[in-house]
Amino acid sequence: MPDGNRIQRFAWGTRDDAQVLIVHFGSKSTPMIAQQLRQIGVRSRVIHAAEVPEAVAAGHGAKLTILSGGDDRIGNPGAPTIADADLAALRQGGAVLGICYGAQLLATKLGGTVAPAAVPEFGEVQVGVAAPFGEYAGGTVVMNHSDEITVLPAGWKVLGSTAHCRHALVGADDVYAVVFHPEVDHTENGDAFLAHLAFTLAGCERDYTYDLATYVDTCTDWLRQAVPHGDVELGLSGGVDSAVAFRLAQRAYGPRLRATCVDTGFLRQGELAEVRQAFGDAGISYLEAADDFLPDIEALPYTGPDPQGEAHYYDQVRRTIGGRFIDTFVGHARQQGRQPVALVQGTNYADIIESITNLKAHHNVGGLPAHLDVQVVEPIAGLFKFEIRQLAAYLGLPEEVVHRQPSPGPGLAIRMWGPVTRSKVDALRRGTRIFEELVRQHYPEPQQRPTQYYLALAPLASCGLMGDDRVYGYAWVIRGVTTHDRESYVTVSAFDFSAAFLQEAARRLTNEIAMSDGTRFVRVFVEVTGKPPSTTEPH
Ligand code: XMP
Repeated sequence: MPDGNRIQRFAWGTRDDAQVLIVHFGSKSTPMIAQQLRQIGVRSRVIHAAEVPEAVAAGHGAKLTILSGGDDRIGNPGAPTIADADLAALRQGGAVLGICYGAQLLATKLGGTVAPAAVPEFGEVQVGVAAPFGEYAGGTVVMNHSDEITVLPAGWKVLGSTAHCRHALVGADDVYAVVFHPEVDHTENGDAFLAHLAFTLAGCERDYTYDLATYVDTCTDWLRQAVPHGDVELGLSGGVDSAVAFRLAQRAYGPRLRATCVDTGFLRQGELAEVRQAFGDAGISYLEAADDFLPDIEALPYTGPDPQGEAHYYDQVRRTIGGRFIDTFVGHARQQGRQPVALVQGTNYADIIESITNLKAHHNVGGLPAHLDVQVVEPIAGLFKFEIRQLAAYLGLPEEVVHRQPSPGPGLAIRMWGPVTRSKVDALRRGTRIFEELVRQHYPEPQQRPTQYYLALAPLASCGLMGDDRVYGYAWVIRGVTTHDRESYVTVSAFDFSAAFLQEAARRLTNEIAMSDGTRFVRVFVEVTGKPPSTTEPH
């Protein structure tokens, strides 16, 4: 990561004197809490657990404090906590809600106990409530816990339970602990749950609306102030995030801005040409740089296939592509006689969540090289994808860009297992073209399609029958996911492809593609896991 001071993010929907204080204990969905509050019209402020004493000393003034989830376990040495006096001060301000780890922390702080759950729960389960919590009446919720609250603090009641977690929603008066995640997309009516807390129990008032014109104007001013002089570069991928960042930066910097679209060799077939068609040539360079990226990746020592080794290897793959990416277009700018002082990135809120919680080095966040000597500005870092799509439409971007499915920065390189090789990438590019063609044929309307869909290459050698011969070949994995309205990708569910689609995909993907050494594909698998416990991408 470059020096944090050199990354400037346009803050949106937060303020220091917000009515809601969110204390971050490490959960990847903490910013979803802030976003869910924005959905119901309330701004918040997110601070790290270590910053609580300072916020309390400064008289935080919040009417509602929310303790986020986290991936540590209560009682672990060094697990984040909160001092009793600070908790008491936060309670004096108004209501307190603990979510998952925050719920367990709150329970133990107030005299309850926590122990390993008899049945840990990951993913969607049903919660039943004893009586409605405001408008919230239970339903599908997302759980992600291995511990549970076993003994409740004095006076707390059981308000909601799942089949395996009796204390899923507990509390009394102005203190509540919820083991499921009301903030994520796959929890039904999480907004009603938070609305009851914020408006009825904590007495917050509505103080936030998402006004696109205001966003564009304030963000443009912010961009100008962030980089008042000098040449500014932007990496354009053609996805909705970088496209919106580009339009905002064009407004702010005019001819000072130059965008570069780099074909890393891991793009889908024909992608660079599609981007060129959508954006034209004015102010944009298109670079075919596959030969710069692949040798670097092929040179990385493969440390798999055990889970730790595979994780380490793909982390290196991500970092190497991220680093080379920056070098490529900063180098290109210098070749053009430009002296870049800043780089605009279309990093969104979800990218930051993934990165700060260290789930992976996101290509456009953690993958930046340490030696980076330009300033990085991120104009949409406070927005989720669905908000960015609204902005894209408002800024007049073409329909296919507004609705484009997300694509990870490292591209096809992270859609396989085992070492990344040129022949795997080539096969995957061809397979992906067929796969996407089939999706368009079987699901002609964009809204019928999964929110994101892709093909991955599994070098899982197994037996098939081709002609009269039993042959050993590899496998394809088909993945389609859906998100709910906010398209955060913090939670996803598997898309239900039709039998007709799957049969045709199986036939074409096995018949039409082989590796450059002749190895065939003899099996096609469909991924059916949601997130959690899976992730959208394989790495
Ligand atoms: P996961 O696999 O974590 O992915 O469920 C969530 C969403 O993020 C996308 N993704 C990325 N986007 N740079 C990006 O801009 C990246 O390095 C990256 N990795 C994953 C992924 O495609 C999904 O939409």
